[in-house]
Amino acid sequence: MYIDNLKLRFYRNYQNAAVNFINGMNVIIGDNGQGKTNLLESIYLLSTTRSHRNDDDRELINFDQEFASVETNLHYLDYEDRLGIVLHKSGKTLLINNNPVKRNSEFLGKLNAVLFAPSDMDLFDNSPRVRRKLVDIELGKLSSVYMLSLSNYLKTLKERNNYLKGNIDKIMLETYTEMLFEPEIRIIRERKAFVDDLNLYLSYFYNQISGDNDVIKVDYRSFIEEKDDEEVMREQISKNYENSLERDIYLKQTNIGIHREDYIFYRNDKEVSKYCSQGQKRMILLALKLSIVQIIFKNKKEYPILLLDDVLSELDSSKKERLLRLLPNTVQTIITTTDLKDINQLKSEKMNVIRVRKGVIE
Ligand SMILES: Nc1ncnc2c1ncn2[C@@H]1O[C@H](COP(=O)(O)OP(=O)(O)OP(=O)(O)O)[C@@H](O)[C@H]1O
Ligand SMILES: [Mg+2]
Repeated sequence: MYIDNLKLRFYRNYQNAAVNFINGMNVIIGDNGQGKTNLLESIYLLSTTRSHRNDDDRELINFDQEFASVETNLHYLDYEDRLGIVLHKSGKTLLINNNPVKRNSEFLGKLNAVLFAPSDMDLFDNSPRVRRKLVDIELGKLSSVYMLSLSNYLKTLKERNNYLKGNIDKIMLETYTEMLFEPEIRIIRERKAFVDDLNLYLSYFYNQISGDNDVIKVDYRSFIEEKDDEEVMREQISKNYENSLERDIYLKQTNIGIHREDYIFYRNDKEVSKYCSQGQKRMILLALKLSIVQIIFKNKKEYPILLLDDVLSELDSSKKERLLRLLPNTVQTIITTTDLKDINQLKSEKMNVIRVRKGVIE
């Protein structure tokens, strides 16, 4: 899929801006603080209805204005939609083909974007929650079964945790516990399959960027092993909860389950968070995002839009060039940079350059 234009009104430091994109490589160039990230953020907003930088939509409205809007034409293989979001101080309206949508979920499935943001660099060193969130978001987009299982699980988990805080009847507690099993089996299966898929691509993309011959792997630390036989999984899960029961009662919370799992990244069998340089981490993260693009394509038969914010910093010039050449022109890519030199190497290729200065497209 691709977008061919973007209209911003009173969005962050933009007053009234229109940007044209090509279905290929688009480069947004400008000095620091001019509005490059704001542009990508507005596209991400159309994808997820949220900013990737903050939770408060009001921050997206220009300081001097009462509302903001973002609009685009989204092209799929054989049709197109006009998507829009109007942000008010008191809420937001989502529009598809100029009609307000009744349910957010209608809107959420439309524009599929994979974003690399500088804050993603914390992925490896941060807490497991951040890694789970990344997988949950991507898997949620791919699989409605996953999304549904996760929301059922989290609902029951909350109920079980609340129950653990009051007077406990063992039979009742067991009922809550057993309600967790079914969604857990679904979730573990999907997480395992997703990680297996990632491992098909990670080394390839990493080596394409780095020019090395390394093995990049992600290890899914599930709290029980995935098995073909569902009954075996159920037994394992049940045994684990039995073993954890006293601790759960004592600590008044659920101490095991898919809400405690983690994903650990390795480069040549050494943990990325412990041994990799900043540049290597950046390349692994890029390889991860490019792998996700491939997995989405495999599942949906349509490429997502790739948004790359500030990916080129910290990479030496040969790696920059490799990365830019690697980005497939079948995927609409929108990349930001402060430095024209970064992209001059690519001059021969078809590329759309967008210049931003003080919230104005030049
Ligand atoms: N609600 C708002 N109203 C007006 N201006 C805003 C608002 N929110 C942010 N800005 C301005 O937007 C600018 C930052 O834009 P942005 O983050 O897109 O910069 P950038 O071009 O990505 O810079 P860098 O290269 O440093 O990442 C700042 O000048 C900031 O003051
Ligand atoms: Mg920026």
